[in-house]
Amino acid sequence: MTSYKELGLVNTREMFKKAVAGGYAIPAFNFNTLEQMQAIVQAAVETKSPVIMQVSKGARNYANGTILRYMAQGAVEYAKELGCENPQIVLHLDHGDSFELCKDCIDNGFSSVMFDGSSLPYEENIRITKQVVEYAHAHDVTVEAELGVLAGVEDEVASEVSHYTKPEEVVDFSTRSGCDSLAISIGTSHGAYKFTPEQCTRDPKTGKLVPPPLAFDILHEIEKRLPGFPIVLHGSSSVPQDEVDTINAHGGKLPDAVGIPEEQLREASKSAVCKINIDSDSRLAMTAAIRKHFDEKPGDFDPRQYLKPARENMKKMYIHKIVEVLGSNDKL
Ligand code: G3H
Ligand code: 13P
Ligand code: ZN
Repeated sequence: MTSYKELGLVNTREMFKKAVAGGYAIPAFNFNTLEQMQAIVQAAVETKSPVIMQVSKGARNYANGTILRYMAQGAVEYAKELGCENPQIVLHLDHGDSFELCKDCIDNGFSSVMFDGSSLPYEENIRITKQVVEYAHAHDVTVEAELGVLAGVEDEVASEVSHYTKPEEVVDFSTRSGCDSLAISIGTSHGAYKFTPEQCTRDPKTGKLVPPPLAFDILHEIEKRLPGFPIVLHGSSSVPQDEVDTINAHGGKLPDAVGIPEEQLREASKSAVCKINIDSDSRLAMTAAIRKHFDEKPGDFDPRQYLKPARENMKKMYIHKIVEVLGSNDKL
C-alpha cells in the first residue's frame, strides 16, 4: 500500500471547495508520457495553478502503474525544483470501470478516483459508486461519479448517443452514493470529433463548422438542486483549428474535427463546474508539432529533436487553458 500522501499529492476536496467559491475550474489533463507530465508541471508552476494529472485505464496499461506512481511523485518534486513551494497536484483515475480498478489505484498512490457507472442501470451505478466511496474515504481519497451518458467512446465505456443528465436525479444520486463530485452530460463528448457536420451550422465567412451550444439550462438546474456541489465536465477539448490545420498541412487527415468553443468553457468555469477534462487538445498539440517537425526536417531521427517542440507546444496549450479559459492561475 502506498498512500498518495507519501508522494506529496493532495486529494480534490479543498481544491474543489475553493474553485466553486472562487468561480474557476481546475484543469484535469490526461497524461501517459514523460513529455506530457513535464509540460503539465511547467505550465502549472509558471501560472501558479493547482492541477489534476489524470490517467485512464488504457493509459495506465500503456505506461505501467508503478512507473506512473513514480512519475506523479516526480511531478511533485519537479514542481518544487521549479520554485513552487507548495504544489497542489492530484493523481486521478479517469473513467475507472470497476471497484477493483479503483481500489488498485487507491492502493498505489492515487489521490482521487472516478468510478464511471454512467452506462450502468441507475441503482447499479449508485451501488458500485458507494462501494468505491467507502473504500476511498477510508483512505482519504476523493471520488468522482458520473450520471448521464456522453456521446463518443470513453475508455472501456462506449456509447453511440448522449443522454443528458436528468436534474431530478442528482440529489438522490449524490446523497446515496456519497460521491465527492459529479460528472454530468450537457452536450460535451470525447475525442476530436464531438459533433457531426449535420449537428453543426457553417460560418458563412470561413466555412468552418460551428457546434451547437452546451445545455446550460441543465447545468443551472443541477446547480440549483445541489448548491455548491462540485460538478465535472468531461470531453472539454476545444480542438483548436490552428492545430488541426497544421496537422492537415503536414500529411495528417483530420477532416471536420470540431470541439467545444472556449467561450462556453469559460462560462462553465464560473459556475459549479470545478473540474474540466482535457485530453484531445494535448494529443493534437503534440501531433501537430511532431508532424511539422518531420516535414521540415526529414533528416532528424533523435526523439529529443521532435519531442522538445512537441513538449513546448503542449505547455503553451496548457498555459492558455489555465489562464484564458479556466481561470485557475494565481491560486497557489
Ligand atoms: O476520456 C477519455 C480520455 O481521453 C482517455 O482516453 O482511454 O484513450 O486513454 P484513453
Ligand atoms: P477530450 O477528448 O475532449 O479531451 O476529453 C477528455 C476527457 O474527458 C477525459 O476524461
Ligand atoms: Zn472523460
